[in-house]
Amino acid sequence: MRSAGLKVESRLPTCLAGDVGLGHDVSKPARRRPLLAVPVRAPSEAPVRPPYSALADVYDEIMQDVPYDAWCGFVRSELAQRGWTGQRVLDLGCGTGRAGEPYRDLGFEVVGVDPSEAMIRAARRRDPRGRYLVGDARTLALGERFDLVIAVFDALNNLTGDGELGLACERVAAHLGRGGAFAFDVNTAVGLQSLWEDDVAEGWAGDVYYRWEHTWDPAIRRARVAAYCRGPRGAFVEHHEERPYEPAELEVALRGAGFTVVDVITFPDGTRADASDPRVWVVARLPG
Ligand SMILES: C[S@@+](CC[C@H](N)C(=O)[O-])C[C@H]1O[C@@H](n2cnc3c(N)ncnc32)[C@H](O)[C@@H]1O
Repeated sequence: MRSAGLKVESRLPTCLAGDVGLGHDVSKPARRRPLLAVPVRAPSEAPVRPPYSALADVYDEIMQDVPYDAWCGFVRSELAQRGWTGQRVLDLGCGTGRAGEPYRDLGFEVVGVDPSEAMIRAARRRDPRGRYLVGDARTLALGERFDLVIAVFDALNNLTGDGELGLACERVAAHLGRGGAFAFDVNTAVGLQSLWEDDVAEGWAGDVYYRWEHTWDPAIRRARVAAYCRGPRGAFVEHHEERPYEPAELEVALRGAGFTVVDVITFPDGTRADASDPRVWVVARLPG
């Protein structure tokens, strides 16, 4: 559990990657400004925007050090060990599309899907030749099949309602061919509690000042972040909520959707994970 109080530039303000031993220091924005120049507290008058709306314009700046290449290498290595081969990749909860980019660079055909129109617009701006569609994991109906679905960097922790993870797993299974694979990461309760409780992450990422206040509510087992950002296009705050997922419930949801191989593992060593791990990765496959 973390103590209350300000942790200046302690890590990336979302998704917690820097604190869970990913093998990369993703906590430090590449370029910084003097902290004396920043406000002590986020102005309460900042307009509140829906989750992943205004953030889309500054997301890549804030997340510039996220190890997408390493995550792609990890997933591909774990898939290869399980005999997977394939060509078509669906990046679910793709955001600005950066998690799918290493796959595309390796020659995979990648389609990105995200419910946030703003994130999809940002993805198309960043990668005009890519294919990015608005869609929701719970209701996905693209009418096409893929060899691999990825959902990276907490995307599925955004499914906060009861049964929503199961729905998403069913929709993913419906978009995979025989032997198709589903690979994703999620925060567990240990992760959300220990990393989000009473925490403030503040700093500069390029031209963007951020101050993100994290809370964990043990009564309802939800983590929340009030994400204040001030960039060249002004200030805003977004309120995000994440639900933790434990290895056991991941396995139930995936097997319920028809996945017969379900391995819950840790990054980067690929050893079996348990509920004491703050963040887990899942590699699941449908029958071949
Ligand atoms: C932390 S971002 C990760 C984005 C991207 N995968 C990356 O690695 O940068 C979480 C993403 O999950 C998306 N998301 C939220 N609810 C979702 C849902 N119901 N179905 C699919 N994606 C969702 C958000 O819009 C957001 O883009």
